[in-house]
Amino acid sequence: MKFFVDTADVGEVRSLAEAGLVDGVTTNPSLVAKTGRRLAEVIAEICAVTPGPVSAEVTATDFEGMLAEGRHLRRIAPNVAVKVPLTEAGLRACRTLAEEGAQVNVTLCFSPAQALLAAKAGATFVSPFVGRLDDIAADGMQLIADIVTIFRNYPHLRTEVLVASIRHPMHLVQAAKLGAHVATLPPAVIRQLLRHPLTDRGLEAFLADWKKTGQSIL
Ligand code: E4P
Repeated sequence: MKFFVDTADVGEVRSLAEAGLVDGVTTNPSLVAKTGRRLAEVIAEICAVTPGPVSAEVTATDFEGMLAEGRHLRRIAPNVAVKVPLTEAGLRACRTLAEEGAQVNVTLCFSPAQALLAAKAGATFVSPFVGRLDDIAADGMQLIADIVTIFRNYPHLRTEVLVASIRHPMHLVQAAKLGAHVATLPPAVIRQLLRHPLTDRGLEAFLADWKKTGQSIL
């Protein structure tokens, strides 16, 4: 399973990339707005420290506007993936950009039928939002299960399921059990994955015992 980081904070991406925990990055207009910085600058810096695709989202809502913005975003760096919303214009833009060789991430997916449409439009990734479904008392993970099943039924569809709106480690674990291709995780959730109280307690005990021996390895 690939791990993308869901942030527009360049410092966070850099430090997680140095730890080898980043296969790609996803941003959205809200995340970029939080930085208070220019989109093009942020995306260029993130692309320079990220080995894989970096999703940068269009903000136009019409086909021509999305196309123009998508082409512009692609010029920032070769690893930019153009993110378009799951609307009719977005799917049209997805098809055209994909035919031009762009990686396209179709975002704001909330149903299996929408995911199938994104795949038929040639999306590289489709982003179902699990947390936002859970927030309205729907079952976000059931959506992932349904999409994974549908895509497995039609192996010619090359679109990867990119689980988005992840809020806690169990979302990640459940998505991985279902066989989703990618998870995009807020930096805080990546750090939560790492920690376990028994790891901390175990390490403390090993080091205390080792100290009693008076030895040093080097
Ligand atoms: C990813 O591409 C999305 O932008 C992101 O996961 C949305 O997460 P949120 O629902 O926590 O805002």
